[in-house]
Amino acid sequence: MHGTLLLYSSAYGLSKQICERIQASLAQRGQRADVAPLVGCTVDPQAYDALVIGASIKHGKHHPSVLEFIRANKDPLESRPSALFSVNLVARKPAKNTPQTNPYLKRLVAQSPWKPKLQAVFAGELDYSRYGPIDKHMMRLVMWINRGPTDFGTKVQFTDWDAVERFAGQVAQLAGGAEAAGQRADALAA
Ligand SMILES: Cc1cc2nc3c(=O)[nH]c(=O)nc-3n(C[C@H](O)[C@H](O)[C@H](O)COP(=O)(O)O)c2cc1C
Repeated sequence: MHGTLLLYSSAYGLSKQICERIQASLAQRGQRADVAPLVGCTVDPQAYDALVIGASIKHGKHHPSVLEFIRANKDPLESRPSALFSVNLVARKPAKNTPQTNPYLKRLVAQSPWKPKLQAVFAGELDYSRYGPIDKHMMRLVMWINRGPTDFGTKVQFTDWDAVERFAGQVAQLAGGAEAAGQRADALAA
């Protein structure tokens, strides 16, 4: 077994960065972790002791591949320690930044046959300069509706990296036990 697999679905790279931060945090604790894209995933989740999925919101939705992946891999997700996090801008509001209060994560979990015990929501970033003309205007509309920044010069990251670190600690706890059990099983099989 290969430790923890962190799969990201990311349009602009922040969910990937969060996975990499968790990977680094696990490495500091002596735990192995790999980071890979969920969309078009070529890695076998069965080869890992623990699984984490991190996905961002674009135009009100997680990428459809996220739910497809969960449905196709329900067994490995359920049979090992696993966790899910969502990245979105609605989560910049304190009233909407927990798994119980964030509408996107709640909807994904409601649709998912896998009900991860460990869940998190992280506020994302807003950088109009990186978006194409359509996304830029759509995003401004979303921000206007949500009373967020509408100036095209806005570049702001709302992510609470301390919260990411705390989540990484929780992942480390659940992955640590599974990794040790996997190593014992490997040793017995050798
Ligand atoms: C085109 C576009 C549409 C977005 N739509 C939403 C949205 O509907 N709701 C929301 O909360 N955040 C929305 N966001 C914010 C993203 O979730 C946020 O920028 C996040 O950091 C993106 O993470 P990623 O880089 O991993 O894709 C949108 C971002 C972009 C660029």
